[in-house]
Amino acid sequence: MKLNLSGKINKIYVQSLCMMFYHGVKFPENEENTDGLELTVNVSEHKNAVHCTAFLKSGDKEVSKEAKCEFTEEESADRTYKIAIGQAVYMACACITGRSSGYGILTGIRPSKVVAALLESHTEKETRDILLNRYLLSCDKADLCIEVAKNETAILKRTDDGKCSIYISIPFCPSRCNYCSFISYAGKKLFSLIPSYLDKLNCDIRKTFDTVKKCGLTVSCIYIGGGTPTILDPSQLENMLSTVGKCIDTSTLDEYTLEGGRPDTITDEKLLIAKRYGITRISVNPQTLNDTVLEKIGRRHTVEDFLTAYEKVKRSGIDCINTDLIAGLDYDDFESFKSTVDRIIELDPHNVTVHSFCVKNAAQIRSDDKDIYEKNNDTARSSVDYSIKALLEKGYIPYYMYRQKNTVDNSENVGYAKEGAFGLYNVYMMSDAHTVFGIGAGATTKLVKHRDGKEEIKRIFSKKYPYEYLKAEEDEEQEIISFFERS
Ligand SMILES: C[S@@+](CC[C@H](N)C(=O)[O-])C[C@H]1O[C@@H](n2cnc3c(N)ncnc32)[C@H](O)[C@@H]1O
Ligand code: SF4
Repeated sequence: MKLNLSGKINKIYVQSLCMMFYHGVKFPENEENTDGLELTVNVSEHKNAVHCTAFLKSGDKEVSKEAKCEFTEEESADRTYKIAIGQAVYMACACITGRSSGYGILTGIRPSKVVAALLESHTEKETRDILLNRYLLSCDKADLCIEVAKNETAILKRTDDGKCSIYISIPFCPSRCNYCSFISYAGKKLFSLIPSYLDKLNCDIRKTFDTVKKCGLTVSCIYIGGGTPTILDPSQLENMLSTVGKCIDTSTLDEYTLEGGRPDTITDEKLLIAKRYGITRISVNPQTLNDTVLEKIGRRHTVEDFLTAYEKVKRSGIDCINTDLIAGLDYDDFESFKSTVDRIIELDPHNVTVHSFCVKNAAQIRSDDKDIYEKNNDTARSSVDYSIKALLEKGYIPYYMYRQKNTVDNSENVGYAKEGAFGLYNVYMMSDAHTVFGIGAGATTKLVKHRDGKEEIKRIFSKKYPYEYLKAEEDEEQEIISFFERS
């Protein structure tokens, strides 16, 4: 797409708006425009308002849209510009493509953060009006964002700079799912690394708890994620959990999650160990309850395997069960996903997380397959809409949300919980609410501190792949302690 921008315009913002309608569109700087798309945007200030015109040409179709946004006292001038530009570009793209996005001109990954900020100075009704009329959200998405923002805000009050969480990474999986881009090793040869990986991991777990103590922080949540942590055999799992248990009295934690994930790795013996060492929350994920789709996406487990694993988890007495679903998966359709949601609701888990299928470059299903969006857009939209309606009707509370780039239909990922069963780590992590120490390959440590009312964040990245992690010798303790000591 060729862009001609004149006035105070953030090019990246305009590009991200266009990408919601034209997946994978490129914006060549000097090269000839080859896709027949040309967008001209003009913005200027006139009589206390920002005026914007967007003129879009697509082959032989042309459309021109205008937006005018008045400056207001509570909104920064930059934001007023952004809204006027967003409205004009959004309306032009929507008109030519015949598509819409429930999130209107909100292109960011955390729409509920924008909404939480609005709720600080507006009533719920005023916020809803702003979302509908200025940000062009659909009624359903505006209501969802408001609900999530209120719940997130309440959860965030439970933490502060004195608390932290710990993420432990187990980047191994029984097989590679074709939609997934998480760093994870699958295959017999790579599994031979697990014993030495765990030796180093256990050593780093001890070091990290030591650092946490030196920094004077209290651990709120521990999240063992992946990959598939339950791929470990019972003795390996016990060894890792007992290492954690020697570092902290796990009964003092607000939440202790084990991401089981793949049903084909969950056994009664592992669950018994998990419960004994204080795990309070566990995920067992079907993604979809459709055997044909499960086979096509390379999950290598059946619906029956999921139901059996779910029953085992339920019997284990672990307090909180989460199930992850993906809406709009390749090969899935609305009726199949609707039945997945209905059957999951019947199982009555404490948490349900509904992801929207996202096409990732590092996955086997890649973003260069442009048809993938066209094929799955409508399924994703109707599936997500159904999941919202069905889960809300059954009393599930939406408490966290985020969006990703390259999601079919620009939809969102939403975490739902029963009253009192919110997944705290997810909210703290997503909102940068407190420090998170990441241990293991691919994990990120995020140091968070507020100084003079300003949030300061520093990220330290572990080596990405297990074989690199095994060789790494970095010791960041001094760097971490200095971050907290600095006034
Ligand atoms: C880190 S993965 C680990 C979960 C576990 N290994 C499993 O597969 O059950 C967490 C979740 O991200 C979601 N996910 C992964 N790739 C995705 C994609 N391309 N689009 C949407 N959701 C995705 C899945 O729902 C998955 O359960
Ligand atoms: S979705 Fe889960 S099991 Fe599948 S490859 Fe990704 S992390 Fe592994």
